Amino acid sequence: MSAIREPYWSDEHAAIYHGDAREVLAERPAGSVDCIITSPPYWGLRHYCEGQYGQEPTPETYVENLRATFAEARRVLADDGTCWLNLGDVYAANSDGWARGAAFNPRQPSARPKARLALPPKNLLGDRHRDKIEQYEAFCDELGEDPANVGLAWLLHQKVVTAPIIGPRTLDQLDGTTRALEIKLDEKALARLDEIFPGFKTAPEEYAW
Ligand SMILES: C[S@@+](CC[C@H](N)C(=O)[O-])C[C@H]1O[C@@H](n2cnc3c(N)ncnc32)[C@H](O)[C@@H]1O
Repeated sequence: MSAIREPYWSDEHAAIYHGDAREVLAERPAGSVDCIITSPPYWGLRHYCEGQYGQEPTPETYVENLRATFAEARRVLADDGTCWLNLGDVYAANSDGWARGAAFNPRQPSARPKARLALPPKNLLGDRHRDKIEQYEAFCDELGEDPANVGLAWLLHQKVVTAPIIGPRTLDQLDGTTRALEIKLDEKALARLDEIFPGFKTAPEEYAW
């Protein structure tokens, strides 16, 4: 059995472990973590480091790789813990590599895994929820509110959320976002949003594996 790694850095409040996420998680005791926040690389989009997630040959192997890591994440997560995953979609490509590669941007992989996909190029790989997004946009129209602000307002209505992380690029966007603080979603509106986006299974028990 290999040795348990020492923290890269620690003090009386926190410890940072450096390594492959799944291997580090496998060394942690079950139920020992209160909160997991993660943003793994999207499939085939950026080059960060050797052995990184996102360079698998197919979307299916990417999902399987993340699934195995999240099985470990679920094991170490306390029963009342929360797990936050930031994950975006990518477009189907019709080539094995980016035209301009690392010369254009050092994080751009020079060999993007070619998708052997049922989807034509330029389609979003996970774009199976378009109908839900259209229902959501129609509902936001009914409310007379911007969809991004309704999303933020919904977060603010969740008991477990204390501080949504926002990402405005401009002052106008920041000013626009403050509207979310004023939006009151009543029971009927919250029920309609749950109806559009019902979730898949009971959280958190049935999510991570
Ligand atoms: C989209 S970035 C997120 C960066 C981070 N959220 C931040 O704001 O700096 C993805 C990160 O995942 C890291 N990463 C990729 N594969 C990993 C793995 N197998 N184990 C741990 N980290 C990994 C990359 O090095 C990169 O820093």
